[in-house]
Amino acid sequence: MTLTHIDIIQPDDMHVHLRDGDALNTVVPHTARQFARAMIMPNLKPPVTSADMAAAYQTRIMAALPEGVNFTPLMTLYLTDRTSPEDVNAAFNAGVKGFKLYPAGATTNSDAGVTSLGRCSAALEVMEALGLPLLVHGEVTDVDIDIFDREAIFIDRILIPLRARYPKLKVVLEHITTRQAAEYVATSEDGIASTITAHHLLYNRNAMLVGGIRPHYFCLPILKRESHREALIAAAASGNPRFFLGTDSAPHAQHTKENACGCAGCYTALHAMELYATAFEQVDALDKLEGFSSVFGAQFYGLPLNARKIRLLKEEWTLPDALSFVDGQSLVPLNAGEAMGWKFAGIL
Ligand code: DOR
Ligand code: ZN
Repeated sequence: MTLTHIDIIQPDDMHVHLRDGDALNTVVPHTARQFARAMIMPNLKPPVTSADMAAAYQTRIMAALPEGVNFTPLMTLYLTDRTSPEDVNAAFNAGVKGFKLYPAGATTNSDAGVTSLGRCSAALEVMEALGLPLLVHGEVTDVDIDIFDREAIFIDRILIPLRARYPKLKVVLEHITTRQAAEYVATSEDGIASTITAHHLLYNRNAMLVGGIRPHYFCLPILKRESHREALIAAAASGNPRFFLGTDSAPHAQHTKENACGCAGCYTALHAMELYATAFEQVDALDKLEGFSSVFGAQFYGLPLNARKIRLLKEEWTLPDALSFVDGQSLVPLNAGEAMGWKFAGIL
């Protein structure tokens, strides 16, 4: 019998960038159309560093939600050299779900990031005691380290010592891109998990660089070679609950990506579940999509599973070339103008 559709528990996006201001009116409806909840990254300008700032940001996100749509933004705070134990306690009491570690200079709006983890020891001890996860952008930033090696070296130099020092600290190694990260997460002590983006499951660095530079495939951590992509899809489709969905959908206006110094980030919120279904189907693992998308992330964060289901149709449609964005600018989704083999049909 030919497969016409699949129904799965409504998924959660455990890593997304929504930005702020008018941009919310474009991107919040996209994420909320498919996902029941999303872990909102705090790399705004200025960064979201206190429970009060997170509460105000959450209110602005909810104001951009279309009428009648059920969606819960899960808030995170930006760890800095100055995050205090009091900040961590206040965050926990306010229902913040984690602190995001951006090594200073690693990516978009990371200037206020951590310069040395030693400066954060008091905050990390409280997070460990409270069970409040640390969400990690896992790349070293040393100028002498090749950009394609920055994740693997981060694991050895930063992550392994960090976990030895705080063995009970819950850690999410975000948007993993390498075989080394997949192997580390699968084999190390309990308390670690990892998000994987759809673009890292579907593409290797050839997509970005062969035949010309394609800036809409540029993100951080950068796409790697094919053997790494294969390790990522094997991990995602393994049914191991340490691997779950996080799109890292990151909106940047078209002219800031198609630029001599283009911004990092792929916009996938519009068609996220279609992309993940395509990746899982390629390895004949559609039966593993629900655990990855809708179960394992919730379990890691101690959240109930979503009550509703969504339907994905095996049906072709074509992505728009661009979306209208703030101030008359455009936003180009990944795969703009291309045909997709799966179509999100809605919440059942
Ligand atoms: O590609 C990326 N874009 N990687 C990140 O870590 C940040 C994100 C953004 O905020 O644009
Ligand atoms: Zn991100």
